[in-house]
Amino acid sequence: MAPPPDLPPFPQALSSRPPTAAAAETPIAPPVLRARGLSKVYGTGDAAVAALRDVDLDIVAGEFMVLLGPSGSGKSTLLNLLGGLDRPSSGELTFEDHRLSEAGDDALTRYRREHVGFVFQFYNLIPSLTVAENVALVTDIASHPMPVDEALALVALTPRRDHFPSQLSGGEQQRVAIARAIAKQPQLLLCDEPTGALDYATGKLVLDVIARINRELGTTAVVITHNAAIAGMADRVVRLADGRIASIERPARRLTPAELSW
Ligand SMILES: Nc1ncnc2c1ncn2[C@@H]1O[C@H](COP(=O)(O)OP(=O)(O)OP(=O)(O)O)[C@@H](O)[C@H]1O
Ligand SMILES: [Mg+2]
Repeated sequence: MAPPPDLPPFPQALSSRPPTAAAAETPIAPPVLRARGLSKVYGTGDAAVAALRDVDLDIVAGEFMVLLGPSGSGKSTLLNLLGGLDRPSSGELTFEDHRLSEAGDDALTRYRREHVGFVFQFYNLIPSLTVAENVALVTDIASHPMPVDEALALVALTPRRDHFPSQLSGGEQQRVAIARAIAKQPQLLLCDEPTGALDYATGKLVLDVIARINRELGTTAVVITHNAAIAGMADRVVRLADGRIASIERPARRLTPAELSW
């Protein structure tokens, strides 16, 4: 769909920097997201914190990527940049042929609204709205949404569609948040510690839903976790340390959540 006329178009210029060794680890498929020399500094002067330093990363369409790393290593900072919630201090970030690193507020808002589904640790549901109404909030403004009940079926919550969030368990609330994130049919599903507030068994159920969406809808998924065991579910595992990429691994075989143990 063409953007509304009052919004400026995306800058179309493509990156000119050559890929580095880390970026070259990606498969042949063209990257959906491409970061080169991506850095983020919070604050200025003595208070400046280099949260992300010179990160090169390609994320290909349909891939399931897990981001690992100690607290403060820059995981959320990277995810927020990938999702257009924030802008880098330097470096290039492109989504398909759109340059996000130089995009204005309106273009970033449009990018998030049309292409990105977010899932956070604490669900962020609206308590006065039912499950179906929480999901409808997103489908009402999306360009190509799936029906609300289809999204709820994907997370196995059809019987709960008319309940309020307070009537649901934590894992069920997180599945509503996932339904809300995918209902607009985003290319990207970005999850920041989606199981951080859940117990072991519930966390696995939620991960299973994310893995299934990645597999069945082909949605590119990037999931942050503290839990290295989750890494077995991924196509690639990126470890951050002190704002840099410490390693990129490709597990020999992608495990299902049922096969994971932690
Ligand atoms: N808005 C901000 N202002 C100043 N510093 C920030 C801000 N956000 C993050 N930082 C700093 O940037 C660094 C990276 O933070 P980030 O939130 O990306 O880490 P993380 O890997 O997600 O950690 P955690 O696992 O604890 O969530 C940390 O040192 C953090 O204190
Ligand atoms: Mg974080």
